[in-house]
Amino acid sequence: MKIIMLGVPGAGKGTQAKMIADKYHVPHISTGDIFRANIKNGTELGMEAKKYMDQGLLVPDELTVKILLDRVAKNDCENGYVLDGFPRTIPQAEVLDKALAEINDKIDFAINVDVPDENIIRRMGGRRACLSCGATYHVEHIPPKKEGICDACGKELVLRDDDKPETVGNRLDVYHKQTQPLIDFYNAKGILKTVDGTADMKDVFAAIVSILG
Ligand code: AP5
Ligand code: MG
Repeated sequence: MKIIMLGVPGAGKGTQAKMIADKYHVPHISTGDIFRANIKNGTELGMEAKKYMDQGLLVPDELTVKILLDRVAKNDCENGYVLDGFPRTIPQAEVLDKALAEINDKIDFAINVDVPDENIIRRMGGRRACLSCGATYHVEHIPPKKEGICDACGKELVLRDDDKPETVGNRLDVYHKQTQPLIDFYNAKGILKTVDGTADMKDVFAAIVSILG
């Protein structure tokens, strides 16, 4: 099963993608997590990506597409995957479709986690992320067992650099200009499914499971 998660920054794509990955035994692939891991490890790719990410801009397609295509070619992707944060532009979606068509394959579902912009700034300030394993918490809604420490791997939780209110505003603008057209793109293919992302995360997941079967 090959799934794409769509939605504004902070809609809960990562939260839901992890739950999907656990239930359906497919890898969760987040281009944002891949970039953040590279930034943390000080790689050349990380340094380049950081310039864009800190401003809330998209990392150029040339960098992003190669990383994603290399990742989905790995053995653990044989039975599918859940993509979180990719594609984010029409050209990225076209490259993915072409690569899949070459192996007689296609995306099964594009899940749009729908949350209005007004809800987002509030959510982001409360988010805490683990840069080691990619786990995500929220100080009010989904707190870790021990404050500031990741339940999954025991490392320190941080407020992401791009979660400052002024950067979140930019990310929302970029989403509406560059990523939102993907909603029509996947709708036209008949694989777009929209869920109400303002609901409790367990209810959002139940709605997704009823779509995926
Ligand atoms: P990325 O890491 O993908 O960030 P994003 O799309 O901005 O999305 P977020 O991770 O911020 O939000 P999310 O939807 O995953 O929400 P979450 O589950 O954490 O990308 C970061 C940057 O990398 C981009 O800006 C760009 O520069 C670059 N990049 C990445 N991919 C790229 C690409 N393909 N092309 C070009 N550039 C790329 O939830 C948010 C918060 O809400 C959490 O605290 C969570 O606990 C809480 N929450 C979740 N669900 C609920 C709920 N139902 N109710 C209440 N709270 C909830
Ligand atoms: Mg995310």
